[in-house]
Amino acid sequence: MHKNFYITTPIYYPSAKPHMGHAYSSIIADFFARFKRIDGFDVNFLTGTDEHGLKIQRAAEKKGLETLKFCDEISKTFRDLSKTLNLTNTDFIRTTEDRHKNSVQNLWKELEKNDDIYLSKYSGWYSVSDEAFYTDDEIEEIDGKKLSKTSKSLVEWMDEESYFFRLSKWEKPLLDYYEKNPEFISPKARRNEVISFVKGGLKDLSVSRKSFSWGIPVPSNKEHVIYVWLDALTNYISALNYPDVNNQLLKKYWPANVHLIGKDILRFHAVYWPAFLLAAKIPLPKKVYGHGWILSGEEKMSKSKGNILDPIEIINQYGLDPLRYYLIKEVSFGNDGNISQDRLEDCINSDLANNYGNLCQRVTAFAIKNCEGKIPKDIEFNEDDLVILDKFKDNINLIRKKIDELDLNFYIEFIVNSLFEANKYFNDQEPWKKKDSIKRLNTIVFTTLEIVRKISFLLYPIIPQSSLNALKIFSINENQIDYSTIENHNYLSKLDTINKIDILFKKIEKLND
Ligand code: ME8
Ligand code: MG
Repeated sequence: MHKNFYITTPIYYPSAKPHMGHAYSSIIADFFARFKRIDGFDVNFLTGTDEHGLKIQRAAEKKGLETLKFCDEISKTFRDLSKTLNLTNTDFIRTTEDRHKNSVQNLWKELEKNDDIYLSKYSGWYSVSDEAFYTDDEIEEIDGKKLSKTSKSLVEWMDEESYFFRLSKWEKPLLDYYEKNPEFISPKARRNEVISFVKGGLKDLSVSRKSFSWGIPVPSNKEHVIYVWLDALTNYISALNYPDVNNQLLKKYWPANVHLIGKDILRFHAVYWPAFLLAAKIPLPKKVYGHGWILSGEEKMSKSKGNILDPIEIINQYGLDPLRYYLIKEVSFGNDGNISQDRLEDCINSDLANNYGNLCQRVTAFAIKNCEGKIPKDIEFNEDDLVILDKFKDNINLIRKKIDELDLNFYIEFIVNSLFEANKYFNDQEPWKKKDSIKRLNTIVFTTLEIVRKISFLLYPIIPQSSLNALKIFSINENQIDYSTIENHNYLSKLDTINKIDILFKKIEKLND
């Protein structure tokens, strides 16, 4: 059996530099990519930038830059951010690349060939900020300005010749697909939103623009450029060399396991994209997960609102892993979440410095002093030891299942509980009082070290660098992390030396404490 896994982030608009919301999606995708890779899967992890359309053209004009040059610059900041976030993406796609343009034009031709595209005229509302069409019901007027009700972005009237995609034709097939594949849209509440939207009736979708040129030309009519969302969504297969169906990437990785996105772009991914794919007779992705928003106060953090938190600044101040841990733990996955520096500092102090870092330091210092710096060999587990060790063994398959359901909240809760229990175990067992019963002392040290190893393995997808720093205790390197060893309580018995390690996390001095 081939164990392949393909996960994607949205490709971001390079209209302004990246913010915390982008970092959030990318970090979560990296978490799943890392877990699956460690668990023996061949992982393809795609991210990139979405560079066509009026939004980008206008942003470049505003800066007085040639559009592609503008894209080059900002796309690079997204690529750099991927490195800063320690992402393990296997590719980074830009929609201005030839490999992508060719794919999009091919998909277009396929849709045209299947009679899913026709020429007509569009008159209606359009939001350049969202690159989306809205009906009268979907807009409101505030202070004389027409806005989208959901995104609050400005809409403008559009009236031009346009190609249309026969979206209406796919209403029933889409509903059937949602019905037969209840896991396709997650979380459940989002699934319901999508279903009621589709049940409300689908109108054909305008898929080309004539009034500007920054896009991929319609192959049969150079006066039109292809609608930026039809262009952008295709990135998920253009990066696999679509339409070359015999190439390894497409064979191995399509259909994708997960398109991870924010709920703002759910309609595009759960309605339009599957409809395009159905029309082109291409298999549908297995799951679209629409996570919540990082809020700033009550509002969505966004470039256009100017209320952004810069991930780079936070990383410079606190380090990357604390940010990764914090976003995964404190924003309940699937829901909106407020983030604050104050909470981030609490998280660093209590979870990372106290519960994890301190445990690692305590047990190694104790073992260096009392076990000659060696992994104790003469040990015998008692009931207390087995209870805590078995918790990992008994849960690893459940963890795998929860990962497949993208239940990140379960995962982090398991870790937080394990850290709490590990500290409690070490305190309750009082190894420092067992100096006249060396076998018991050895066993407590061994058990605690085993727990540190197991927790560090599980923390690896969340805080990769810190987990590797902790695993230096055992001289375990990245290639040796393996979830099939979580069940093994005697893994460490084949190792020898215990190394002293540097402080994993520095505590933050808080003024109000
Ligand atoms: O929509 N909280 O690009 P985009 C959480 N190019 N996530 C957030 C966020 C926030 N406040 N703000 C942004 C586009 N995101 C299109 C996508 S895909 C074929 C094309 C994340 O730059 C979240 O994943 O506006 C959201 O869906 C995405 O960035 C939107 O990025
Ligand atoms: Mg956006």
